[in-house]
Amino acid sequence: MIRLDVSQIHKNLKDPDRCFDLNIPCFEVKSGEKVAIIGATGSGKTTAMDILAMASQPDKCERFALAVGDKSYDLKQIATKPQKCARIRASFFGYVMQRSPLFPFLSVRENVTLQQLVAKRPDPAFIDVLLDRLGLTMIAGAFPSEISQGQKQRTAIARSLSHRPSVILCDEPTGALDPKTARQCLETIDWAAVQTGAALIMITHDWELAKACGFEFCSIQTCSLGKSHMAGELERRSCAAGPAKTRRGGDLSLGLSKQGSGSLVGGAR
Ligand SMILES: Nc1ncnc2c1ncn2[C@@H]1O[C@H](COP(=O)(O)OP(=O)(O)O)[C@@H](O)[C@H]1O
Ligand SMILES: [Mg+2]
Repeated sequence: MIRLDVSQIHKNLKDPDRCFDLNIPCFEVKSGEKVAIIGATGSGKTTAMDILAMASQPDKCERFALAVGDKSYDLKQIATKPQKCARIRASFFGYVMQRSPLFPFLSVRENVTLQQLVAKRPDPAFIDVLLDRLGLTMIAGAFPSEISQGQKQRTAIARSLSHRPSVILCDEPTGALDPKTARQCLETIDWAAVQTGAALIMITHDWELAKACGFEFCSIQTCSLGKSHMAGELERRSCAAGPAKTRRGGDLSLGLSKQGSGSLVGGAR
């Protein structure tokens, strides 16, 4: 059993002209679950995903825990120890970022292999399967400068799945792809998650495709707290309460009104 479980996470982004506050009151995801995070552009989806993927540290956090099998990890404590943090991230997390950089001096296959080596889980046969499923076999020897944006994105997907992570996180993984290839990629991500019983979290604007692939939806609502101050809050999701319920009322801690304020009100299921 795999379970990622966070509560009362807060992150503030600030520059001289503006300020953004992200809140994650309670978010849980476990083995076999597929959650699509939806929300307007700029609502804080990537900020939330970076935190859930341990790629960025929250300013405040009450709970950040990962359970894999009979082992539990207190990621709140581990986050303060860079080496341990890197090990946990490399071993248990597979993160496809919105623009995942590839190593320019490594081929497609080498980029994918590197992730397995870092996780100490070499498995060339699994790489063959991933490259085949993602339509990359023909370009396995090519370098990033020799392939298209969509092929780079698929290489990043293969890399993030290659070490059989416990938690797969994808930030708009099909954004650069045509509808057929997008579906093929999502089915491969889904297939890889089923292979390992991983929990799957994805940011997407393609509600139809996510729905067709059986994702539950969890939205980020935003509100304005002043002229240059915005806040976003990820809908509460608790495994104990069963599948996510889209909440539409003014009961979020930001005190959003029924319509929110510039908010994306959920209900995409
Ligand atoms: N350094 C910063 N200072 C203030 N606001 C920022 C900063 N960086 C990003 N933001 C804002 O934070 C919000 C959330 O960004 P992001 O998580 O990338 O949104 P999304 O992925 O939903 O499009 C956006 O409104 C963005 O403009
Ligand atoms: Mg984003």
